[in-house]
Amino acid sequence: MFQEKSGFWASLIRPSSRFSVLTLLLVGIVLGLALIAGTHLTFEATSSPEFCSNSCHEMQTPVAEYQQSPHYSNRSGVRAHCADCHIPKQLLPKLETKVKSSAELWGKITGSLDTPEKFAARRLELAQHEWARMKANDSRECRNCHTVDGMSAEKQTPRATAMHALIGEDGRTCIDCHKGIAHHLPDNMPEGD
Ligand code: HEC
Ligand code: HEC
Ligand code: HEC
Repeated sequence: MFQEKSGFWASLIRPSSRFSVLTLLLVGIVLGLALIAGTHLTFEATSSPEFCSNSCHEMQTPVAEYQQSPHYSNRSGVRAHCADCHIPKQLLPKLETKVKSSAELWGKITGSLDTPEKFAARRLELAQHEWARMKANDSRECRNCHTVDGMSAEKQTPRATAMHALIGEDGRTCIDCHKGIAHHLPDNMPEGD
């Protein structure tokens, strides 16, 4: 038997007699746009170089090392920021990265990385996670700036040119040969990596 329910939930599912469909639709569109804009602004704010470098002291070690690397300072002044390497530009992969890194907030709350010693202990695991991600996407973030096409054989060392002829062979990609380009490698690297 159907019974007329009262209360909050019932008022939510009961068809509206007060507002026209058009009004409800417009309210929905405005709220939807606000949500998209809010998400966009949050993504921008949490991808900025300032946020990545300063929001938590857990990042002190990787930040300091990166600031000594050619990706921070080089003769042309083109700088790769944290987000250029670590956050995809495409919407869906970016969403995935943001959701996964929200889990890091839990680590921050529970203090799992809050001393250099704790960071050193977890570094291999964190690095392996990034290597796996870059291997799986064929070093997509590197290729946003570096193109194989654009590499001049005359300007690269002969060793680099010889090695770069191997890109794509057996699935070989940038990160296979270029680990530790922005940070020091973990002390406890497994053999063969
Ligand atoms: C935002 C653009 C950008 C991104 C993203 C980027 N790079 Fe670079 N990379 C540069 C610039 C600029 C230089 C310095 C060029 C110079 O020396 O003038 C550089 C230099 C290098 C060098 C030579 C210097 C060194 O560290 O030995 C390597 C190797 C390199 N990048 C590999 C990578 C790899 C691998 C990735 C992905 C994990 C990557 N880059 C991502 C812009 C970028
Ligand atoms: C098979 C291994 C291998 C792969 C794959 C590879 N590289 Fe390299 N790359 C090297 C070696 C070796 C050097 C030379 C390093 C040196 O001379 O110190 C080099 C040098 C470079 C340099 C510096 C060039 C110069 O002369 O200053 C850049 C930039 C670079 N690689 C980017 C990339 C990018 C981007 C990719 C992926 C598209 C890539 N490499 C893939 C092995 C590789
Ligand atoms: C040019 C690309 C590049 C830039 C720029 C970059 N990283 Fe990384 N990052 C990597 C790579 C590649 C790894 C995987 C480990 C390795 O090879 O060093 C990594 C690993 C890490 C790790 C895991 C722990 C570790 O040390 O391996 C953290 C945390 C990190 N990066 C944070 C940052 C922060 C914060 C910034 C900006 C201040 C930054 N990265 C800038 C390429 C980059």
